[in-house]
Amino acid sequence: MSGTGPGDRILDVGCGTGYLSRVLAPLVGPEGRVIGLDPSLPMIEHARRRSPGNCSYEVGEGQALPFPEASFDIVVSSFAVHHMPGSARGAAVREMFRVLRPGGRLLIAEFRPPVNPLAARLAAIVAGPAVRPTMPELLATLVPGAGLRVESTGTVGPVLYYVNAVRPPAAGS
Ligand SMILES: C[S@@+](CC[C@H](N)C(=O)[O-])C[C@H]1O[C@@H](n2cnc3c(N)ncnc32)[C@H](O)[C@@H]1O
Repeated sequence: MSGTGPGDRILDVGCGTGYLSRVLAPLVGPEGRVIGLDPSLPMIEHARRRSPGNCSYEVGEGQALPFPEASFDIVVSSFAVHHMPGSARGAAVREMFRVLRPGGRLLIAEFRPPVNPLAARLAAIVAGPAVRPTMPELLATLVPGAGLRVESTGTVGPVLYYVNAVRPPAAGS
C-alpha cells in the first residue's frame, strides 16, 4: 500500500522499537534507506540494536523533523500520532508534508474505534485517545490541511484505520 520500491528513502515517524522500519527495510534494498525517528531514547536504542544495514534511527519529535525539505520518497507513521500532544499533531503532519518530495507518499495508521457504540465507549475509557472516534476525523482534517492529497482511507482488520496520501507534484512537472 505504501508503494515502496528499491532505492526509496523512507521516514518512519514515531518508530518506537523499529518494527515497521524493519518490515520496510528489505523492500527498499541496499540502495534505499529507512530512517526511524522517535522521542524516546530507550526505544531508539532498542531499534538500533536490531537495525538492518539500510536502517538508521534518530531521537526527535514529529512536530520538528530534523530533515531537509523534500528529502524522502515515503513517510510512514504507525500508531504514533495519537501519542503526540494534541497541539503538536497538526505541526507533525505539516512536517511530514515538508520532508516528502513532490509526488511522495504519506501513510498514517491509527487505531480504529469499534463500530459497536457500546464497545466504542468502553474502548475509549480503557484505551483513551488511541481509539476515540476523533482520530480518523482528526486525520481527515489534518492531512488535507497540510497540503496532502488523500488518495484513500480504510480499515484493516478490527483495529487499524489508515490514510494514504500524496504530496502533489510541483506545478508544471
Ligand atoms: C504505540 S508506539 C508505536 C511505535 C511504532 N510506530 C509501532 O507501530 O510499533 C507510539 C510511539 O510514538 C512515539 N511518540 C510520542 N510522541 C511523539 C512525537 N511527538 N513525535 C513522534 N513520535 C512520538 C512514542 O515514543 C512511541 O514510540
